[in-house]
Amino acid sequence: MNPGDAIFVAGHRGMVGSALVRLLRARGFDHLLLRTRAELDLCDPAAVRAFYAKEKPAYVFVAAARVGGIWANATQPVEFLSENLRIQLNLIDGAYEAGVTKLLFLGSSCIYPKLAPQPLHEDALLTGSLEPTNEPYALAKICGVRLCQAYAKQYGARFISAMPTNLYGPEDNFDLELAHVLPSLIHKFHLAKTRGDASVTLWGTGSPYREFLHVDDLAEACLFLMEKYESPELINVGCGHDLRIRELAELVRQTVGFGGSIAWDSTRPDGTPRKLLDISRLAALGWKPRIKLEEGLRSTYAWWLNHDSGVRSI
Ligand SMILES: NC(=O)c1ccc[n+]([C@@H]2O[C@H](COP(=O)([O-])OP(=O)(O)OC[C@H]3O[C@@H](n4cnc5c(N)ncnc54)[C@H](OP(=O)(O)O)[C@@H]3O)[C@@H](O)[C@H]2O)c1
Repeated sequence: MNPGDAIFVAGHRGMVGSALVRLLRARGFDHLLLRTRAELDLCDPAAVRAFYAKEKPAYVFVAAARVGGIWANATQPVEFLSENLRIQLNLIDGAYEAGVTKLLFLGSSCIYPKLAPQPLHEDALLTGSLEPTNEPYALAKICGVRLCQAYAKQYGARFISAMPTNLYGPEDNFDLELAHVLPSLIHKFHLAKTRGDASVTLWGTGSPYREFLHVDDLAEACLFLMEKYESPELINVGCGHDLRIRELAELVRQTVGFGGSIAWDSTRPDGTPRKLLDISRLAALGWKPRIKLEEGLRSTYAWWLNHDSGVRSI
């Protein structure tokens, strides 16, 4: 990649897209193609085709998607399946038609079967049933991976797919109804601290294990892969270790400075029991993350406090 190359970051105002933009700018890439949803609806095939034809990006990062937690997936399965399929199809088909040099598609660790052996190796894809609570999103992402592989196999396109673990950091969604677990914990503990509550009640039992990666590390990995990875085989991006949700809750409680106790509502779903990625494929290429969870939690909480409580709707 050269500094003047036209690079389209689809979804540049999202958590991943904005981290990519920060990193690309810091590395001297100054021809970034950025469009808000109002300027370019990625669900609109004609608009995406016209954009590609006019702007002719050399590189495309597919960081646009409808993203959300268990509640959002359960209540909006149509949007999670339909919008994600359409966004991917328009961006990937369009990239091939427009002769894009290389495209990186972002999937997610939830594409792997619910009960696949841990840590989750890339070869576990499509070896079992998905976790029902996020099936619409996962199905769409699997189609995106397979479409990139099909373009690589049939037409030799340099379309690659990265599967990030759970991400957190600046520009995350802190909306209590829509957020993923980590920003939701930050929000809940912050509210409890502000109100002087004695206790915070959290969903589930706290026993599932989850892995978390700071979004700035993910952006570094995406750029690394765009520059160095040529295989159509999907590749996991994680930090390589996990912790129980209850351990995470305790870390967030301390980070936020909430002095009360934590109660668990076990009538609420836990989701997948464990979701740790096998990152040996990425590690073998020489990449590793640099931001520790404690440090990332501190900076993310500070970011949220400075950004109008960070609540946005999707
Ligand atoms: N967050 C995670 O923990 C996580 C983990 C694994 C993988 N990923 C993957 O990483 C990618 C980015 O996730 P994220 O967390 O950055 O999501 P995000 O913060 O919700 O950002 C998604 C972006 O996509 C844009 N978008 C959605 N629908 C659009 C449409 N129809 N037209 C134009 N833009 C549209 C949104 O635009 P608006 O700003 O207008 O809403 C937003 O900027 C996704 O593919 C996701 O699956 C995320």
